[in-house]
Amino acid sequence: AQNERDSLFIALKFAGEFFQDVLWNHSEGKSIGLSYFKERGFSEATIKKFDLGYSLDAWDGLMKPALEKGYSEEILEKAGLILKSENKTYDRFRGRVMFPIHNVGGKVIAFGARTLRKDKKQPKYINSPETGVYHKSDIVYGIHQARQAIRNEDLCYLVEGYTDVISMHQSGVRNVVSSSGTSLTKEQIRLIGRYTKNITVLYDGDAAGIKASFRGIDLILEHDLDVHAVVFPEGEDPDSFSRSMSSEAFQQFLKDNAQDFIRFKIGILANNISELSGEEKSEIIRQMIESLSMIKDEVKRSEYIRSTSEILKANESSILIEVNHKILTRL
Ligand code: UTP
Ligand code: MN
Ligand code: MN
Ligand code: MN
Ligand code: MN
Repeated sequence: AQNERDSLFIALKFAGEFFQDVLWNHSEGKSIGLSYFKERGFSEATIKKFDLGYSLDAWDGLMKPALEKGYSEEILEKAGLILKSENKTYDRFRGRVMFPIHNVGGKVIAFGARTLRKDKKQPKYINSPETGVYHKSDIVYGIHQARQAIRNEDLCYLVEGYTDVISMHQSGVRNVVSSSGTSLTKEQIRLIGRYTKNITVLYDGDAAGIKASFRGIDLILEHDLDVHAVVFPEGEDPDSFSRSMSSEAFQQFLKDNAQDFIRFKIGILANNISELSGEEKSEIIRQMIESLSMIKDEVKRSEYIRSTSEILKANESSILIEVNHKILTRL
């Protein structure tokens, strides 16, 4: 199957280059796709750095030139680029701006594709299916462009979306990857863990983002990485927020607002710690014990238990007992 993998890589490379050619050189690509990116505030250098493209609003915009080049329908279908029904074969991505997804080595393995329509009749993004070279739970978007910076900074920012990664690069923050809408997996954490043991979660400032960050934090702790998080203002994501200020201000915001997961979680669960009722406090402690019990390293765990008890003015040894109990019952 090595031959087939190679064929998939070659077809995906062709598609990526074709979508870019359309974006930069074709009238529909320029007037719709390129202007969309520019209106979003992406510079030409940024658009090129991420190999962004555009798929024509046609049934065979990609398929026709690909077949002419000698790619078979079979390989195009296996690459996730075309769809086959009983009586027709057609492009999967049509009339969308294209975000190629690269593996660590920089080969195109899949695409995310955003609609330009404002109506909600179609999904905002459609993505490549799982293929012989794309397992979405194994990869994070942006890792190829970010890995050196992640090593240098010894820190990886984790965001929700493609555009968050891209805008942060433009704001000078290059150590950033995205789990791309899927909930974070252990394989993705292990991949990041090859470059750093420190993750800072930057999820959208909405209920879904907070829920996903809580889940992500526990999974990151379970895999023995250190985790911090930043709360974004309601309705903002790293893309929109970074574009609303200078690069310097955005970088400063990240530095000033990264909290360890204890302070982050407590800050979200409690508006005002001094005014908590006994019942509210026990509920928060219960939720903190969930995360604390994920930490494998005993020294770290006891440090975080101590800071939890200090912040909540709660009894340290009773938290410790509960955490140990939780760990034992999980074994
Ligand atoms: P968001 O809804 O936060 O989108 O989804 P976004 O990244 O802010 O996109 P813009 O700014 O509106 O363009 C976060 C991520 O979830 C995945 C995508 O990877 C997206 O970047 N997603 C979202 C999908 O795969 N499909 C969808 O329909 C929506
Ligand atoms: Mn897999
Ligand atoms: Mn979101
Ligand atoms: Mn978002
Ligand atoms: Mn967004």
